[in-house]
Amino acid sequence: MDVLYVTLIALLIFLFFFTIIITGVAMTILTSAPWVPTPKGISRKMCELAGLKKGDKVLDLGCGDASILIVAAKEFGATCVGVELNPVVAMMARIRVRMNGVQDRVKIIRANMFDVELPDVDVVMMYLLPKATHKIENRIQERYEHLTVVSHGFELEQKEKESEKIGKATVRKYKW
Ligand SMILES: C[S@@+](CC[C@H](N)C(=O)[O-])C[C@H]1O[C@@H](n2cnc3c(N)ncnc32)[C@H](O)[C@@H]1O
Repeated sequence: MDVLYVTLIALLIFLFFFTIIITGVAMTILTSAPWVPTPKGISRKMCELAGLKKGDKVLDLGCGDASILIVAAKEFGATCVGVELNPVVAMMARIRVRMNGVQDRVKIIRANMFDVELPDVDVVMMYLLPKATHKIENRIQERYEHLTVVSHGFELEQKEKESEKIGKATVRKYKW
């Protein structure tokens, strides 16, 4: 009886984690931008290009495991919000934020960036595929009167203000 009970509990635990992992993998494949974290050096360059100062508010649309936001909060003193669609990746982001001791300055929202209410911020960071970049550009242009945007990799439709190469990557700054 005891063995049966323990086996059943083990099976339920296995099914729970299996479902979470399968959901995560499926969402990564189906979403408009798969999860690829921005390396620390590029995250730092994005923060420098944005001219981040202590207390600035930063939003990462499709924040992944919060790579950019952890650098923004830890090294530049920014207050950050990350929006992430994939529940497994969002969970990882929350764990990493805690492990880095910046939970008082980085909030992770598990949501679709095309539906969620966008908070008041000074800077938007993004690392998305071209289709998602263009779709979100329209949304943030309507939402924010004044904004600095730094994009890793892909271009927005409007004219960029500055860009920098770091290794093979290009980071681009836009301002309105
Ligand atoms: C290339 S990764 C970049 C992650 C992070 N910004 C970085 O630079 O380290 C893109 C992320 O966007 C997320 N994503 C894709 N579509 C999304 C959507 N509609 N709403 C929120 N997040 C989305 C993906 O799950 C993925 O984690």
